[in-house]
Amino acid sequence: MSEKEDAGCGCKAKAPEDIGRRDFLTRATAALGAVIAAALSATGLGYFVSPAFQRRDEDWVDLGRAGEFKAGAPSLVEFTQRRRDAWVTSERRSSAWVVTADGKNFTAFDPRCTHLGCPYRWDSGASRFVCPCHTAVFDLDGKVVSGPPPRPLDQYQTKIAGNRLMILPKAEEKA
Ligand code: FES
Repeated sequence: MSEKEDAGCGCKAKAPEDIGRRDFLTRATAALGAVIAAALSATGLGYFVSPAFQRRDEDWVDLGRAGEFKAGAPSLVEFTQRRRDAWVTSERRSSAWVVTADGKNFTAFDPRCTHLGCPYRWDSGASRFVCPCHTAVFDLDGKVVSGPPPRPLDQYQTKIAGNRLMILPKAEEKA
């Protein structure tokens, strides 16, 4: 660093080239800091915002090998649904009645009666679903045979992925 003795006051004055270099370093440091801050902000923003835009493929639940469901005999399958809603992951235990006539096409029923939500059961002797609460009866297709329910059993969407039966446990009303 070049400094000159000021003749009048005895203090040291800075050379013009020192001021230029110092100013350059200050500005360069500030610019670098701004770039780093912007990069960190973008990363952090992406971390917090991206879950809100993620696809909901995880909503599908694997119920097992499709070939293991017995044709003509409804099976009550219990499952755990993990749901990620933006930043919160929750778990819910539920079940579905799975029906197949040929081992290829599947129907999955919401296990709650469409009258007041009681769990119903399969009566193999009568080949009917029976709700014990108010004696409702549904056939294998979920249609109301007798009793107070206002509509057939609600269904879940199904699909086969590989050789696995998948359901989307969000009940859909059948008119
Ligand atoms: S809740 Fe099933 S018949 Fe009423």
